[in-house]
Amino acid sequence: MIRILHVSASTREASSRSRIAADMVLARLRESHPDQSIVERDLAARPLPHPDVGFVEATALPPKARTEQHAHSLALSENLIRELELSDLLLISTPMHNFTVPSVLKAWVDHVVRPYRTFQLSPEGKIGLLRPQPVLVISACGGGFMDDMPGETPRTTGKQKDFLTSYLRYVLAVIGLTQVQVLRLEHQNAPSAGDITDEINSWADQVLDQLEL
Ligand SMILES: Cc1cc2nc3c(=O)[nH]c(=O)nc-3n(C[C@H](O)[C@H](O)[C@H](O)COP(=O)(O)O)c2cc1C
Repeated sequence: MIRILHVSASTREASSRSRIAADMVLARLRESHPDQSIVERDLAARPLPHPDVGFVEATALPPKARTEQHAHSLALSENLIRELELSDLLLISTPMHNFTVPSVLKAWVDHVVRPYRTFQLSPEGKIGLLRPQPVLVISACGGGFMDDMPGETPRTTGKQKDFLTSYLRYVLAVIGLTQVQVLRLEHQNAPSAGDITDEINSWADQVLDQLEL
């Protein structure tokens, strides 16, 4: 049996392009792996709190130095990390907000990327502690991109920089998740934005067969 964790972040429901794409990919996975379970972590329907002072103090302490109160402050984070540890495949579907992840998804990242728990600090840098699992990221974006765009300021090209893809790849690698495949759906706000079925299917054709599950 494969266990799938679907982390979603669109506030929209039926009209959400990232949700439509995720549903199609999940349907494909049901065909190829009928013996499966899915945990839905819908961050828009059930937003997570931002890290509070209790979390910030507790997360910095080595486990042996923590009190019961510290453990209590980390309880939600523990649940979210357990969800990740119990999955064989992570699917993240998300809108792009202001060139990066929406704040609800950033809050999830802040809960699951933790020293002493999902990564270890070492003189050589951070070492991921999670068992490797494939990650599929689907992002829906209103506009188009110029990935090698120079400079820091948007100019008049009508194109933008993508900080979402590189950010998710980077932060997931910190906790040990390095097999990341990304589908970026562009121009989803354009009046001409049409059916995305072919684009999703062709991406799924390339990616799903290669998954090491
Ligand atoms: C607050 C906000 C910020 C956004 N920022 C961007 C952006 O930086 N780049 C972009 O291409 N689209 C941006 N969009 C458009 C959404 O990414 C786009 O509508 C996407 O399709 C939403 O995902 P969904 O269809 O899954 O709901 C933004 C939308 C909102 C509401």
